[in-house]
Amino acid sequence: MTGIRHLYVHLPFCAHRCGYCDFVTVVGRAGSHHAYVDALLAELELDRGLLADPLETVYLGGGTPTFTDPAALERLLAALPPAGEVTIEANPETVAPALARLLSRNGVNRVSMGAQSFDSRLLSVLERRATPDDVRRAVHTLRDASFDNISLDLIYGIPGQSASDLQRDLEAALALEPEHLSCYELEAKPGTRFTHTFGDELARQSDALEGYFEQVVETLTAAGYRWYETANFCRRPDLADGRDLRSRHNLAYWLGRDYLGLGIGAVSTLGTGVGTVRRRNMPQLPAYLAALAGGEPPPRELEPLDDDVKRRERVMLGLRLDEPLTLAGLEAAVDERALDRMEALGLATRNDNATISLTSRGRFLGGGVTAELLA
Ligand SMILES: C[S@@+](CC[C@H](N)C(=O)[O-])C[C@H]1O[C@@H](n2cnc3c(N)ncnc32)[C@H](O)[C@@H]1O
Ligand code: SF4
Repeated sequence: MTGIRHLYVHLPFCAHRCGYCDFVTVVGRAGSHHAYVDALLAELELDRGLLADPLETVYLGGGTPTFTDPAALERLLAALPPAGEVTIEANPETVAPALARLLSRNGVNRVSMGAQSFDSRLLSVLERRATPDDVRRAVHTLRDASFDNISLDLIYGIPGQSASDLQRDLEAALALEPEHLSCYELEAKPGTRFTHTFGDELARQSDALEGYFEQVVETLTAAGYRWYETANFCRRPDLADGRDLRSRHNLAYWLGRDYLGLGIGAVSTLGTGVGTVRRRNMPQLPAYLAALAGGEPPPRELEPLDDDVKRRERVMLGLRLDEPLTLAGLEAAVDERALDRMEALGLATRNDNATISLTSRGRFLGGGVTAELLA
């Protein structure tokens, strides 16, 4: 099969901007939702020839995709090419029964919901709109609409969060029996309001966070989840009727597959006749709408990815997974002597010189070990 098998669609609108967030988002502009969907569909038409038929995955990310005007969202979903896995990111306070039915009748079969925490105090530190009860209600609403693949996002390392607060968050998330969980360490994104207010506190607590990461992994694996990527967990197949509940869309990124991104700020990795190119749509809404309304591609940056960069990215992303990384073709990116050292320290293992993997200890140290291994 030729063509790109993974499609990302960016829906940037949010009810308000949470202080810690530096994603490409647009607050307000309720009058632009239909025009934005028109532009997305025009961009899709310009690039349709790049896509495989059928697609493997479609992912609608944000922003808050479920905050999009429902009629505009339905028009978009109905026009997107079908795929085996269709995921939408949802904020809990937007998940009403009518929205859940809209998603379900338009082919969405996976919902990734930003819970972040189940502690009202910590949710208000994050400036979240949803309460813990909103999160629970949203999961039940999705179950009532027959969704059987729900992921919850949690953030840990929130200022004021103790290890027992984190444990309560993990238990509260597990009580909802999600198929998948993503647990992210709170990052102080440069230039955000949050970093201005809490940057020093986050820097002070950074040593404790390795312990928090281990607590997350230990609790979730003990509860029957597979730690398949540094920050991602899915219910084990033996506890899920044999289903492989890893995010197929995100796996495609981690495995270095090509993908097409539509929308403001969206990124694509496109194999061309003369090599691979990373394409970034600029994050400005007015310029995006104006270009596509005139039948032109939106303003973009193009970055050629040479083989060296591609190999290094494959190693960095591949070692985040729990399956061994096949070395064939990537040898030039791996420092043999560093690999020997990491093996001696019990952080990595090499199998017949064909694959490498990080041990659990190596995975806890994560990026530091991978950085050592890169040639
Ligand atoms: C595209 S974002 C937002 C999705 C959705 N609008 C929401 O707020 O739940 C996806 C996830 O990234 C994580 N995230 C966003 N900003 C972060 C930060 N500064 N540090 C760590 N995780 C972050 C959150 O868990 C969030 O659910
Ligand atoms: S965290 Fe989510 S809801 Fe908050 S501003 Fe970012 S994208 Fe929007």
